[in-house]
Amino acid sequence: MNIVLMGLPGAGKGTQADKIVEKYAIPHISTGDMFRAAIKEGTELGLQAKSFIDQGALVPDEVTIGIVRERLAKPDCEKGFLLDGFPRTVPQAEALDSILADLDKAIEHTLNIQVEKDELIARLSGRRICKTCGTSYHLIFNPPTVEGKCDKDGGELYTRADDNPETVANRLEVNMKQAQPLLDFYEAKGVLTNIDGQQDINKVFADLDALLQGSRS
Ligand code: AP5
Repeated sequence: MNIVLMGLPGAGKGTQADKIVEKYAIPHISTGDMFRAAIKEGTELGLQAKSFIDQGALVPDEVTIGIVRERLAKPDCEKGFLLDGFPRTVPQAEALDSILADLDKAIEHTLNIQVEKDELIARLSGRRICKTCGTSYHLIFNPPTVEGKCDKDGGELYTRADDNPETVANRLEVNMKQAQPLLDFYEAKGVLTNIDGQQDINKVFADLDALLQGSRS
């Protein structure tokens, strides 16, 4: 199953992606996670991406498209994949069409998780991430069982550097500007499915899962 999962920062892409890839056993391809891993490793890509991410800006299309092109060509994508946070601009969406055509693949689900701006701010300001496995929690909406520790592996929880209030404000502005033309691009193709992201995490997953199950039968 080949899936694109879109949504503004804090919409719940990562939270839902974790559940989908676990159930459907497909690789989770998050451009944000790839950039953060590169920053941690201190690679050339990390150095390029860091200044943009720290400001809440988008990493330039040519850099982002390049890493997705490479990743989608890997053998584990033969059984399907979930793209999380890519595409984010119309040029990225056009490039994705061309990459997939070269690989003789197509997207089966283009999903957009919808959440209001005030709720996004509340979610991002309370988010905590496991240092070891990257699982996302929320201080109020999705707290860990033991404060400050990951339920899965006991790893320490931290606040993402770009979740500070100034960067969040800029991330939302930048992403909102890009989002509508991107949604229009997929609307025009007649392939976009909007999901109500302003429900309990498990209810959002139930809606997504019902859609994905529907395509299996
Ligand atoms: P990325 O890592 O993709 O960040 P983002 O798009 O800003 O999205 P987030 O990861 O912040 O949010 P999410 O939707 O995954 O929400 P989550 O599930 O964690 O990208 C980071 C940066 O990399 C970008 O700013 C950009 O610079 C660069 N980048 C990445 N891709 C790029 C691209 N294609 N082009 C150019 N640049 C790119 O949930 C958020 C919180 O809410 C959590 O605490 C969670 O527990 C909670 N929550 C989730 N669902 C619910 C719910 N239903 N109810 C209540 N709380 C919930």
